[in-house]
Amino acid sequence: KSIAVMASGRGSNLKVILDAVAAGDCPVDVQLVICDRGDAAALDIARATGVPHVIHVNPKDYEGREQYDAECADLLDRYGCQWIVLAGYMRILSSSFVRRFRGRIINIHPSILPAFAGARAVEDALAYGVKVSGCTVHLVDEVLDGGSILAQSVVPVLDDDTRDSLHARIQIEEHKLYPATLKRMVEEGFTIEGRRIIWSK
Ligand code: GRF
Repeated sequence: KSIAVMASGRGSNLKVILDAVAAGDCPVDVQLVICDRGDAAALDIARATGVPHVIHVNPKDYEGREQYDAECADLLDRYGCQWIVLAGYMRILSSSFVRRFRGRIINIHPSILPAFAGARAVEDALAYGVKVSGCTVHLVDEVLDGGSILAQSVVPVLDDDTRDSLHARIQIEEHKLYPATLKRMVEEGFTIEGRRIIWSK
């Protein structure tokens, strides 16, 4: 499976996916990395690992979300990407983009969805006072952080947690869950019943 990773930031999830691929633990081929930010560490990680196509698509060069996403969609088609893996990608995808790649876009989110959707998931969970949180890998649909759930991992929330300490604990789980879920998607596959993902094995 050829995949693209779209990222905006630190790129630690991108890195663990690339490491898993290199180690033979994740049977995908990362053909393309797209970043919306030119200073994203994700760009350096992708270049250093030898991803064939590493592209900064600058939002300033496009009229709006639709046009920006159309450029990304063209790149995804050009490089034959079957799946789109969002890894800390901070732009909301237009509904035409989601329609075009329906069922083929996945995201990782730092909470146990449907609790705490949105960009402030870790601080929202902390402020709410939940005693467990975690991460969710899910399909992307038109609802923000609202698509069918592929996998989740749970971590405890400790009394002295800060946003950073909780996020760090969640990221340890993300780094296991994301490559493992991609592997499962390739090797096992799934069907969808209503909202539910039913793994084939
Ligand atoms: C992760 O916590 C992920 O859940 C969220 O954004 C963060 C990205 O981290 N969507 P990184 O850029 O992969 O390090």
